[in-house]
Amino acid sequence: MSIKVKGFLKDVGGASRVTALRQQSIDNASAKADPRDPIRALADALHPASMRFQVVSVRDSSPTAKTFRLKSTDGHIPVFQSGQYVNFRLKIGESELTRPYTISSAPYEARGKDGYIEITVRRNRPYLVPDWLFEHAVPGTELVGNMPFGTFYWEPMRDSKNIVALAGGSGITPFFSMAKEIVRGKMGDARITILYGSVKSDDIILRDELEALEKECDRVKVVNVLSGDPDWPGEKGFITRELIEKYSGEDPTYFFCGPLVMFRLIQKIMDEMGVTCRRFRHDVLSHPADPTQIEGWPAGNETKTYSITVKRGVSETVITASGAEPVAVALERAAIPVDTHCRGGECGYCRSQLLSGEIFVPAFGDGRRLMDKEMGWFHACSTWPLSDLTIKIPIL
Ligand code: FES
Repeated sequence: MSIKVKGFLKDVGGASRVTALRQQSIDNASAKADPRDPIRALADALHPASMRFQVVSVRDSSPTAKTFRLKSTDGHIPVFQSGQYVNFRLKIGESELTRPYTISSAPYEARGKDGYIEITVRRNRPYLVPDWLFEHAVPGTELVGNMPFGTFYWEPMRDSKNIVALAGGSGITPFFSMAKEIVRGKMGDARITILYGSVKSDDIILRDELEALEKECDRVKVVNVLSGDPDWPGEKGFITRELIEKYSGEDPTYFFCGPLVMFRLIQKIMDEMGVTCRRFRHDVLSHPADPTQIEGWPAGNETKTYSITVKRGVSETVITASGAEPVAVALERAAIPVDTHCRGGECGYCRSQLLSGEIFVPAFGDGRRLMDKEMGWFHACSTWPLSDLTIKIPIL
């Protein structure tokens, strides 16, 4: 690409010509207001505030996981990248909850009039939202979600073509989407090697689909690593440095998606291998449901109950909160809407202000800016009460 330089005076003078042209357009414009706003219409189509879906099918993706196929009922699905998620808003009993689920289908599958997205949900323990989806989300069920969101995706300007994906549990979903895109030729000549850690073969989510992709394209490789099955014919044990190095190839960009406990191990391995931040992208599947696993957890807080005085505009509500749950969960249980996206402390959508009381914010997942910390702001999704609190939250 060549850039034409007209000369200093002509270039500087260009700005004054634009002003004159603008004035000319204003002079020629109709005095009648035009109700259409094509820029706004385009922006709304690309970035809708919310999307409405209907479940069209549900299928098993392992003995403990289901894949829900969703079609838009209010227009098209905006452009997204493999690895992004949709934050669903659910009304369960009296509670208003939001939960992010990574889109496990590929972006190309969302295009066209029959386009759809899929989410793959695992239920291996009783948790409110997966339970509700497993028991209530059937073909015909309506769901509402925010537009696709998140920064965990492959970017050719930044990441190498050799993607080494390290996954645990439902952390396989972004890589399944990437593998589909690669097979379809939508990610240039990128290739992906997935090291997927599970306990037993029954825990492997999307196993058949991943095997099919691997057979279809030599730029997709899947290595299942099982820690709890001595008879497994493939790689056994945990994902170790030796295993990562064995499958890494040249100039890899590592991607990790999985639970916090696994992230700690992988982060340590990355440090030992001297992998730079630029070459290690990660997405940790929110905080563990059992807060005592969090580093620095104040022992015994999980057994305590506190009251939170919540100020929203001129209204004030007092709710009860368990010391074992983040403030955002306490608000949702009390049917007070909270704006959340990542639920991992990073995005800042749930930003709230502490007016009085003590809180616990784990070092991992504290995505607040220094100034926010000093001014008493906290991220409700990643903050636990340590005493009775008074907080201020935005009105939604
Ligand atoms: S939802 Fe992202 S920081 Fe709380």
